[in-house]
Amino acid sequence: EQRKKVRHFLTLNDISKDELKAIIDRAIAMKKELYEGRAKPLLERKVMGMIFEKSSTRTRVSFETGMAQLGGHALFLSPRDTQLGRGEPIEDSARVLSRMVDIVMIRTFGHDIIERFAEYSRVPVINALTDDYHPCQLLADIQTFVELRGSLQGRTVAWVGDGNNMCNSYINASALCDFELRIACPEGFAPEATRLDGYTDRVKLCSTPEQAVAGADLVVTDTWASMGQEDEKKERERVFSSYQVNAELMSHAAKDALFMHCLPAYRGKEVSAEMLDGPDSAVWQEAENRLHAQKALIEFLLTQ
Ligand code: CP
Ligand code: NVA
Repeated sequence: EQRKKVRHFLTLNDISKDELKAIIDRAIAMKKELYEGRAKPLLERKVMGMIFEKSSTRTRVSFETGMAQLGGHALFLSPRDTQLGRGEPIEDSARVLSRMVDIVMIRTFGHDIIERFAEYSRVPVINALTDDYHPCQLLADIQTFVELRGSLQGRTVAWVGDGNNMCNSYINASALCDFELRIACPEGFAPEATRLDGYTDRVKLCSTPEQAVAGADLVVTDTWASMGQEDEKKERERVFSSYQVNAELMSHAAKDALFMHCLPAYRGKEVSAEMLDGPDSAVWQEAENRLHAQKALIEFLLTQ
């Protein structure tokens, strides 16, 4: 049914190194234009469908606000009040929605759901988080590092905690941005071995958080229990207890190292309050950059 080949953004690997750089540069420029009151409604009458099968604060607000700022419109669609929740196949939903809207964003569980949607969609599909990847967050993280410290090329990034969707997207980013990634997860919580295929020269699994953080330029963590893992919360808190990012752990990092977290954060669990609210934390700028980076992404996908 597809009329032309459309570009999707299901993982970071859907864009090239040069395209990623262009999107980040454009995000920084769009942010400046917005701050200076010079932003133009470049996507007038364009409509985004936003399918949320999981909760969200940042993702929903950034996409919806971004579309409004660009002169378009965004539709919030939840399974609770669409036919998706009553068993209409994802393929049929893709066929129908993509005949009406110009671009679709999906937050769901299995990554295969978004792949199936994209296969039947006539319009670009953006991954707004699956169990496996969170590429939009990486755009914001990369933008934030570039703004505060410059290029990530040749830098060292430490991932501490759960080898989850964010960690998988950091693995992808390591090749696109050319940094070394050191991952420290409790036993049994590292990313699946196949995720490291093709990355072994730049991604290292470490046995302690201290090893991962030693000399790092950026230290990143995430919640210990992702959406869908609520039942495992107590057990995970026990297993992950020595993986908290706090001032002591951060003292092993480079002097000007930054701390990032996609949020929501749980103070006293994966990050200490002192760390999250302290001077090395870039989390609020990182959250804001979801807006700018995604506007640049939408513009990129709609102008291909
Ligand atoms: N970081 C992130 O995606 O936040 P939300 O779950 O609030 O969208
Ligand atoms: N790893 C978290 C990220 C939330 C933005 C989750 O999947 O719930």
